[in-house]
Amino acid sequence: MTQPLIILGTSGSAYDVLDIVEAINARSPAWELVGFLDDARTPGERHLNLEVLGPLTAASRFERCLFVNVIGSDRSYRLRPQLIARTGLPADRFATLVHPQAGVSSRARFGRGVVVNFGASVAGNVTVGDHVSIGPGSVIGHDSVIGPFAMLAPAAIVSGFCQVGEGSYIGAGAMIRQTVRVGACALVGMGAVVVKDVPPGAVVVGNPARPIASAVSPRSRIPSPVVESLPVAANVRGTSLSENLSTS
Ligand SMILES: CC(C)(COP(=O)(O)OP(=O)(O)OC[C@H]1O[C@@H](n2cnc3c(N)ncnc32)[C@H](O)[C@@H]1OP(=O)(O)O)[C@@H](O)C(=O)NCCC(=O)NCCS
Repeated sequence: MTQPLIILGTSGSAYDVLDIVEAINARSPAWELVGFLDDARTPGERHLNLEVLGPLTAASRFERCLFVNVIGSDRSYRLRPQLIARTGLPADRFATLVHPQAGVSSRARFGRGVVVNFGASVAGNVTVGDHVSIGPGSVIGHDSVIGPFAMLAPAAIVSGFCQVGEGSYIGAGAMIRQTVRVGACALVGMGAVVVKDVPPGAVVVGNPARPIASAVSPRSRIPSPVVESLPVAANVRGTSLSENLSTS
């Protein structure tokens, strides 16, 4: 029997989930895609041959379904805890999806709502928290801990014994040196080479990575318990919640 699955959000990453589900089902039928929940679309609309079923707050109506979230970008990553909270669903209603062509150690541990894309590699004794997104071709070295809600964009490399903080974003092709800690809600820009710890909420770019004043600084986001505890950022270019959701 297959398990009904609903995708939260209609961002480009929905394609990745479709591919993962298709690849899993090709080996052994496991998932039945039911549709999307998305605040920015009209219920009944079609997207990628599936129905938009309603907004995120409608999630609890679908009692037999599990869920997976594809909302999140370098603009909106800090909002992911609030987005998940809006569904009102407990962690066990979220599916962890691993592409069959990802290289995942049997000694790695995964929370709920994790997505592991094609070609990613997750080594032994890695801990991956709830709602983490691991992009195609990303590498996570042994003994590293990836905090809940963190996002690794395509081809990000996290070396061994690293700590990637809750709600942080590691940009495409960025590299994190072994044992380095990336703080909660920090963002590592695409292509950055991170050789020392990144403070919570910081945005760092370049080689070696250094902080910049950025449009994605923490105070440009709506308040959340994690973000509220961060130092005030140097540069604030505010964007609203609805703007952030539409850039998922
Ligand atoms: C770091 C980042 C968030 C900055 O975004 P932003 O706040 O809009 O910044 P801007 O584009 O206004 O750039 C600010 C400055 O930083 C520089 N900069 C931006 N991103 C950079 C990067 N990744 N590496 C080096 N320099 C960068 C810009 O050239 C600019 O420099 P300047 O002030 O001298 O002209 C963004 O560029 C980034 O890297 N996001 C991750 C993208 C990614 O991984 N996408 C994957 C999608 S699947």
